[in-house]
Amino acid sequence: MRSIRRPKVYNQAVRILIAGGSGFVGNSVGRALQEAGHEPLVLSRRPGPSAVLWDGASLTDSWLAAAAQCPAWINLCGEGIAEGRWSRERREALWTSRLLTTSLLVDAMSKVPVRPKVFISASAVGYYGDMGNITVDESDAAGQGFLAGLCADWEREALRAAESGVRVVGLRLGAVLGREGGMLARLVPLFKLGLGGPLGDGKQWLSWISREDLARLIIHLVAADISGAVNAVAPEPVTNGEFSRALGAVLHRPAFLRVPGFALRLALGGMASVLLTGQRVVSRKVMESGFVFKHPSLDAALRAELL
Ligand SMILES: NC(=O)c1ccc[n+]([C@@H]2O[C@H](COP(=O)([O-])OP(=O)(O)OC[C@H]3O[C@@H](n4cnc5c(N)ncnc54)[C@H](OP(=O)(O)O)[C@@H]3O)[C@@H](O)[C@H]2O)c1
Repeated sequence: MRSIRRPKVYNQAVRILIAGGSGFVGNSVGRALQEAGHEPLVLSRRPGPSAVLWDGASLTDSWLAAAAQCPAWINLCGEGIAEGRWSRERREALWTSRLLTTSLLVDAMSKVPVRPKVFISASAVGYYGDMGNITVDESDAAGQGFLAGLCADWEREALRAAESGVRVVGLRLGAVLGREGGMLARLVPLFKLGLGGPLGDGKQWLSWISREDLARLIIHLVAADISGAVNAVAPEPVTNGEFSRALGAVLHRPAFLRVPGFALRLALGGMASVLLTGQRVVSRKVMESGFVFKHPSLDAALRAELL
């Protein structure tokens, strides 16, 4: 039987840097950290009450001074994957907003008097490429395609921090389910109008995690003795068809208006591949670490967010 490593619990407030903490995921992680008694410190390009300004491209004394106080750094930077067609400019923006920010954070670690103990850097289950019906976990290799290549490069950049003794977690996020952002914010209005339904043939797999469980998992990983790639996904991935039926049922709306694959490809170009292909991802590392999901089933996650 495999041994279960349980995390040590921080019994005092920890200052935690969140680069890209102003977004959909960052907001809920910041809130959860505060509720757990920690002190999140957000790096953002936009001024805000609790944000420290940076430009995501250069090292400056002001944000380095703030970062120096934080033993844990979290990186959630990146322009929206689903925002519009993947033109050449758009692909470049998706790449630089992830790779350059990650590189900058890793470089910053050698400029602060004491390096952080842990660096949790976002990636995505798109790392595995289109896997059809095959179940993948953290031990599987990167797949093919733009998104898989982007995730592999992104994780490699974050891993540079391990060379100087920082514990690095490459967090491969599934679709994060929360009403304020991500795929639910786009789908719920359509479903409420009765326009919901499966995309393409609906057989592609969707690995997902509730917003609340993701925030809890990140807090768990700050303290747990885990490094390397970690899949941030709930234990029960579903097909796109099952997802549409579950969302329709929770909203009491029909969910049979199928959107054909060719129409998505025409409308969205290369980006349509994100919606029409998928990955059936499980997390061996999360399960072995003793983490307990609050929303292990899709129905529970959708109800918690939408009702
Ligand atoms: N949401 C999901 O379902 C999901 C799934 C898989 C992976 N992910 C990944 O998880 C991360 C967070 O996702 P999210 O949904 O919270 O995204 P989001 O709401 O779009 O927030 C992304 C954050 O990145 C920062 N950012 C964007 N471009 C930047 C740049 N060029 N330089 C510096 N900062 C930049 C923004 O901060 P400022 O504008 O304040 O500077 C923003 O707060 C992203 O990397 C995303 O790819 C998300």
